Amino acid sequence: MGIDLGTSSVKTLIANTKGKILAVAQRDYRIDSPRKDFAEQNPENWWCGTSETIREVIRESGIDASAIKGVGLSGQMHGTVLIDKYRNLLRPAIIWCDQRSELEVKEIYSVISKEALGAVTLNRVATGFQLASLLWIKTNEPVIFNRIDEVILPKDYIRLRLTDTVGTDYTDASSTLAFNCVDRSWAYEVIERLGIDPGIYPTCKESIEIAGEVTPDAAKETGLMEGIPVVYGGGDQPMQAIGNGIIKPGMLSVTIGSGGQVFTPVHEPFYDSRLRTHTFCNAVPGTWNIMGASLCAGLSLKWLAENIIGNTNFQTLSNEAEKIPPGSDGLLFLPYLAGERTPHMDNRAKGVFFGLTLQHTWQHMVRAIMEGVAFSFRDSLTVFNELGINTNRIIASGGGAASGLWLQILADVLNLEVFRTKVSEQACMGAAITAGVGVRSFSSFEEACELLVRHGKSSVNPINANLHLYDRHYAIYRQLYKNNRKLFRQLGENEGENKAP
Ligand code: XUL
Repeated sequence: MGIDLGTSSVKTLIANTKGKILAVAQRDYRIDSPRKDFAEQNPENWWCGTSETIREVIRESGIDASAIKGVGLSGQMHGTVLIDKYRNLLRPAIIWCDQRSELEVKEIYSVISKEALGAVTLNRVATGFQLASLLWIKTNEPVIFNRIDEVILPKDYIRLRLTDTVGTDYTDASSTLAFNCVDRSWAYEVIERLGIDPGIYPTCKESIEIAGEVTPDAAKETGLMEGIPVVYGGGDQPMQAIGNGIIKPGMLSVTIGSGGQVFTPVHEPFYDSRLRTHTFCNAVPGTWNIMGASLCAGLSLKWLAENIIGNTNFQTLSNEAEKIPPGSDGLLFLPYLAGERTPHMDNRAKGVFFGLTLQHTWQHMVRAIMEGVAFSFRDSLTVFNELGINTNRIIASGGGAASGLWLQILADVLNLEVFRTKVSEQACMGAAITAGVGVRSFSSFEEACELLVRHGKSSVNPINANLHLYDRHYAIYRQLYKNNRKLFRQLGENEGENKAP
């Protein structure tokens, strides 16, 4: 069984050891925003949704619960879940897209330089990352801060409810920015210098290790058998990569989900010294991954569909945009509707349509969004190439990969052959595979992925005639951010945003 605790829903699946998915269930939940820039979720809602989906997949699959050999977890990364010494929740979780901690990011860098922190964590801190959120709680909610017994990440709360054990895994721990990504251990020197009690950081293990077993209470709530092993699991990006069969250097994936990611495994903890990409621990033991993160990929299209067009049928939007020529008749889009991580690491960046004329229609805007998201992936790929990471093919996944048009745009903008995986729900599948390796149903990730993950035979190839046009548009796209960086800040300050770090 694989469980993926996402940002907008939890999904659970049961797969057999040949990779056949026997049942999938999903429950949605909302993001609460009690104040501007806040993004919180109640872990109780996560658990309710998870226990319901577990019951549902056991029922729908028609199998006996005793046939389930192990449970794996995948989850939204970076978030902050606080529990007291009785293992009760101290407050709602602050999740990865929260933006309240801008001052705390500044505080961290006033204590430890970007370079020094980067050399240990291999990353740049962003708002919503656990270390910054925790410091916000220290300053703004000191009573709660003093009662923290352990700080965990979102999916770890599900493991706690399933097994009554507290812990996290290297992939998620490295996404907190309180973790020494080179040594795979908590960065106690960083934690202490920031005035945080190192004792609140939990046990941390590789994703495939068994954390505990389903308790009698959890068995009653979920229908799982008591005693089933639950592995540590990992962050949704590394789990998704496993579900896509991306387990070795040289394999590169592009995900068009709500956010977008360009991701590749590496054997060394190497990183971009300018900190434009992320390097995190990977789920395959003893390996790392490099990731470029675009914050609004599918979300940009969702925003347009809901707020401007009023039609959210993705297939219709894609079919309509196909009628527009490559380059969207000179309309460009910067997908920075929620700021951007790679390559700018700038939470002040804003979305832009550039080049609008009377000729443009909403169909142009759809196509321009698809092209703008592809340009943001090209930004990540450009950094990867600078780091010496090269590839000649890409595995595409995520909801956006269901659009043939978007895949063609990717192939043309990146000038690479694009393949698609056959499995849907890759993060859940990655979690299930991790459980399978953990309970020794498979000897290794290699064996498991070989047996379970299939890529489509047909691929999408770049169309030569489009390459030059996209090169020219990409050059303008890059210039647009540079030219507007200061203006984004100025606008934000007029609108009352805090001073940028
Ligand atoms: C990865 C990231 C998101 C979250 C939520 O760095 O921020 O993908 O994991 O899915």
